[in-house]
Amino acid sequence: MKIIRTVADIREYVRCCKSEGKSIGLVPTMGALHEGHASLIEAARKENDVVIVSVFVNPTQFGPTEDFDAYPRQLDADAQRAEQAGADVIFAPTPKEMYPSVDMTWVEVTGDITKVLCGRSRPIHFRGVTTVVAKLFHLAQPNRAYFGLKDAQQTEVLRRMVTDLFFDVELRIMPIIREADGLAKSSRNVYLSPAERTAALILSKTLREAKEKFVGGLHDAAALVDFVRTNISSEPLADIDYVEIYQLPGLLPVKSSLKGKYLLAVAVRFGTTRLIDNVILED
Ligand code: PAF
Repeated sequence: MKIIRTVADIREYVRCCKSEGKSIGLVPTMGALHEGHASLIEAARKENDVVIVSVFVNPTQFGPTEDFDAYPRQLDADAQRAEQAGADVIFAPTPKEMYPSVDMTWVEVTGDITKVLCGRSRPIHFRGVTTVVAKLFHLAQPNRAYFGLKDAQQTEVLRRMVTDLFFDVELRIMPIIREADGLAKSSRNVYLSPAERTAALILSKTLREAKEKFVGGLHDAAALVDFVRTNISSEPLADIDYVEIYQLPGLLPVKSSLKGKYLLAVAVRFGTTRLIDNVILED
């Protein structure tokens, strides 16, 4: 597996692919690759001539008290997994390579779309995500870029950025990949103790039941949120950050009765680990 470390080298690689008329699929990641990432890489493999996987733990999207230092870093294992899933090359720059100067340019989507849900407890997070993804788009010049629906707010924010900045890239949003028992795959699942891992199953179970209620005719937003809150709170190890419903696309506020397409999203702490999960409700 070819691992590219510098901006100059990825530019050269991309220039070469473009000169041969090859289409490029980009899978931006922070490494610690799991089956969720593999599903993105596999999709990119099917749809593009060349697949670039970026592995970069992006410092600007972590708050000062968050897990930047502890975030798992395992480039050799990632390279192996990426290759198995069909990647051609890994772009794994250093922070200095991506952020060469202390004076820097931010790419920021403003408004409620970055302030609700995770934006409330992670106020600088999305500015870091859009800044690094904009840099990656400029470097890799992908025809298509692949993101997981588990970070549903991230995909909505990136859609806004792509539209507003006229990026000529198709965003391909792939379904959440879950463990056999329902837990959404996440690089942060490794932080969970066995008891927390079991407790965390309350998320997927509750969201699944909420969707069943919605499909069964419960379209009252407050009642659905209340159902999810009550269920998750019944798990002693669960500490709720948010349970919210927003309209899709754009994460607009909901009316009391749901008619259309919605995101029901949760963020919940188990010990020091904060997990997110969601389900799409569509009538
Ligand atoms: O989803 C992620 O892993 C990150 O937010 C991303 C998109 C790779 C940007 O650092």
